[in-house]
Amino acid sequence: VDGGEVYQKRCAKCHRDGSESSKAGGDVVLKGQSAQEIEMKLTGYVDGTYGGAKKKVMERMAKGLSGDELKAVSAYIGSL
Ligand code: HEM
Repeated sequence: VDGGEVYQKRCAKCHRDGSESSKAGGDVVLKGQSAQEIEMKLTGYVDGTYGGAKKKVMERMAKGLSGDELKAVSAYIGSL
């Protein structure tokens, strides 16, 4: 699985290139966070243990990823 491809297809619409915050992307900046942090947050959205006011949006996104895709996209974000 190509994490960069997953990101472009499913995340960039809201999170842009990851280096800037945007309203659609929940005003968070992904760049600068480690792969491990991202993976923990995505897993937390899936099991309901992580998230802010807009967590429903990310719960849907994270649940739509296979285990391999979740790991690959986390590694990609961690490399930004
Ligand atoms: C938050 C990743 C797709 C909107 C987050 C966070 C991560 C993340 C890691 C938490 C950041 C933090 O708290 O530090 C991803 C990935 C995506 C994706 C890997 C693709 C699979 C999207 C899309 C949208 C979106 C398509 C818009 C429709 C948001 C919003 C938040 C957020 C609104 C804040 C949610 C909250 O209140 O907890 N995203 N995202 N994301 N993302 Fe995404």
